[in-house]
Amino acid sequence: MPSRLPDGDVAPADGVLPPDALRELGRRPFGIYVHVPFCTTRCGYCDFTTYTAQELGPGVSRAAYADTALLELRLARHVLGDRTPPVETVFFGGGTPTLLPAGHLAAVLREIDDVFGLAPGVEVTTEANPESVAPGYLARLREAGFTRISFGMQSAAPHVLRVLDRTHTPGRAVEVVAEARRAGFGHVNLDLIYGAPWETDADWQGSLDSAVGAGPDHISAYALIVEEGTALARRVQRGELPEPDDDVLADRYAQADETLTRSGFGWYEVSNWARGTAARSRHNRLYWTGGDWWGVGPGAHSHVGGVRWWNVRHPAPYAARLHAGASPAAGREVLDATARRLEHTMLGLRLREGLPVRELAARGRDAAGRAVGYGLLDRRAHGEGRAVLTLRGRLLADAVVRDLTD
Ligand SMILES: C[S@@+](CC[C@H](N)C(=O)[O-])C[C@H]1O[C@@H](n2cnc3c(N)ncnc32)[C@H](O)[C@@H]1O
Ligand code: SF4
Repeated sequence: MPSRLPDGDVAPADGVLPPDALRELGRRPFGIYVHVPFCTTRCGYCDFTTYTAQELGPGVSRAAYADTALLELRLARHVLGDRTPPVETVFFGGGTPTLLPAGHLAAVLREIDDVFGLAPGVEVTTEANPESVAPGYLARLREAGFTRISFGMQSAAPHVLRVLDRTHTPGRAVEVVAEARRAGFGHVNLDLIYGAPWETDADWQGSLDSAVGAGPDHISAYALIVEEGTALARRVQRGELPEPDDDVLADRYAQADETLTRSGFGWYEVSNWARGTAARSRHNRLYWTGGDWWGVGPGAHSHVGGVRWWNVRHPAPYAARLHAGASPAAGREVLDATARRLEHTMLGLRLREGLPVRELAARGRDAAGRAVGYGLLDRRAHGEGRAVLTLRGRLLADAVVRDLTD
């Protein structure tokens, strides 16, 4: 019984991973995600699992968080057993992982190595807010083995940063890329958001130019999503702020693709561009291609061999469960073969290499033929048996994917 803690109550949700799922370990790359659920302030658009000091309430300490994460790593080793392959990618995401001391992130990474082993050439990424790191901190991360860093730049326009509630200046986002390079980071990403209220075409062009000029080797550009329950959604409902407009979002996407392509960045997933294949995020690719990963931390999701589970969201019960020797899992689902195939198709279609047309169901294959006619799928690739989005197809990616998987 590899999936129970030695002594303690295992919550039903973490239960026992079905032997079929465990048997799949090692067939695909294996990664670890570590969620750090803390932020100094909450951006109005963000509904990620993250807590400011006030939102956390008493009894939860950031200082103790890394030690709690170590407990979940030991649980993971126990549940997965000896068959777990070495870890190909590690990703610290948030929240703001860099609110923890560099030594704490390093200790978690060391434990991942001790518990599972890191594969040669492992990719180790952390997300960071531009204002949350300094050169000494970046140097300590490099020494600890971090290879990649991803900064939330979002925009170079001060009024857009303000409407997004970001606390850094446009200049800081540019400066921090140079600092990361000086610290020895070979791979640096900048996240951008387009379509925020009052953003103009010129603002967005300025953000793209400034991001490219900062010298990262990877850029992610996301359309602003007005998530239900956020402060942004409330302001939109009250009529204080306009909702992002679909036509404007499409124009901004095309503008991003044109600027990034001209500057040597190639798209490899609908929202992601990299300077060459070595700059692509291997960890994200693992998500998009049905890899296996264990997600550590409050609200973190995991997937092994078609079984998906997720942890309780608040850091207090998360820590309490682990300290009591129990699993922090809150629920899980077992995907059947049809659901797994559908997921594989939906994610695969968003990638530059697309998917073999024969992997689509009969109705999807018909829809693919029509999509070529509408200019949404590449005609030549289709002739060679692959479904690959054109630029127009990427602008309407969600609708095309829906059509082809209906
Ligand atoms: C959740 S944040 C974590 C990293 C870090 N705290 C930061 O903000 O840079 C990761 C990225 O998700 C994107 N993001 C979060 N909420 C979003 C939303 N509602 N719409 C579009 N992008 C969003 C932002 O670009 C952000 O950089
Ligand atoms: S800093 Fe990042 S994680 Fe924190 S609230 Fe803002 S977008 Fe969300």
